[in-house]
Amino acid sequence: MVDVEPFVDDAVAEIREQVGDEHAIIALSGGVDSSVAAALAYEAIGDQLTPVYVDTGLMRKGETDQVRETFDYMESLRIVEAQERFFDRLEGVLDPEEKRHVIGEQFIREFEREATGTDARYLVQGTIYPDRIESEGGIKSHHNVGGLPDVVDFDGIVEPVRDLYKDEVREVARALGLEEVVSERMPFPGPGLAVRVVGEVTPEKADVAREACHIVEEELEAYDPWQAFAAVVGKGTGVKGDNRVHGHIVAVRSVESRDGMTARAQELDWETLQRIQSRITGTVPSVARVVYDVTHKPPATIEYE
Ligand code: XMP
Repeated sequence: MVDVEPFVDDAVAEIREQVGDEHAIIALSGGVDSSVAAALAYEAIGDQLTPVYVDTGLMRKGETDQVRETFDYMESLRIVEAQERFFDRLEGVLDPEEKRHVIGEQFIREFEREATGTDARYLVQGTIYPDRIESEGGIKSHHNVGGLPDVVDFDGIVEPVRDLYKDEVREVARALGLEEVVSERMPFPGPGLAVRVVGEVTPEKADVAREACHIVEEELEAYDPWQAFAAVVGKGTGVKGDNRVHGHIVAVRSVESRDGMTARAQELDWETLQRIQSRITGTVPSVARVVYDVTHKPPATIEYE
């Protein structure tokens, strides 16, 4: 376990030394890793840091407001409202890898535009130890290691939490006074809700996934899952009043895992499952059916795409 106080002091001193009088930029995602990296960097260099948060339209419920509130004290914070541009680019895109590619590319464009408007010579990233291991092993192509640095010709990369595991990052987050919604936040995939909508992502389906994910997160907090979420997986027939309707099928997933590489579907009690079903169909009328996913990883992945 990390010794938090000396860690914070050392990390701040190291960032100060590395960046000096130059400017730095960081892409905030709303997650705990980039939040801690940003908080440490801001402590070190203040407004020489420009934190950039891109709202892709694929974020969790309330995430943008959360970021705005949490980092309100950073005058240099930039919030980019890019929802329309992302949805435009996702129109007609069905293939999961193509989706990831489109989102990654659009993200880089948005970030590049912000970066060129600053004098940033350094890129701060919230890369943690398992990210580096996975990237070095070539297991995941979608992580943040080696992604953004090519965007602008930076003098250096600053990775203040590079040697920490997730639970250690959470400890540092608590010590830095970040709220519980940030420090205890479940992992969320980079492409956001796009991997929780099977097939084409539309603003409407993203809204359904967002609301359903929020309900699942709230209802399953007591189970302390590694990740719990909902995905829009297709369409099916239901009845509303006297009418048959063609509505969304929402799959609920809740898994235990140590590192996301393998996972076990959690055993939930019937009452909880029914409460989730009734809240989702009650709050989102376009949902006709809610199912629970009992598949472990392997053979399934955690996300749907
Ligand atoms: P899978 O679905 O591959 O997910 O079993 C394993 C872990 O990785 C997260 N995940 C992603 N994270 N970009 C990310 O940054 C992605 O494209 C991506 N896909 C999956 C997933 O949420 C889980 O924690």
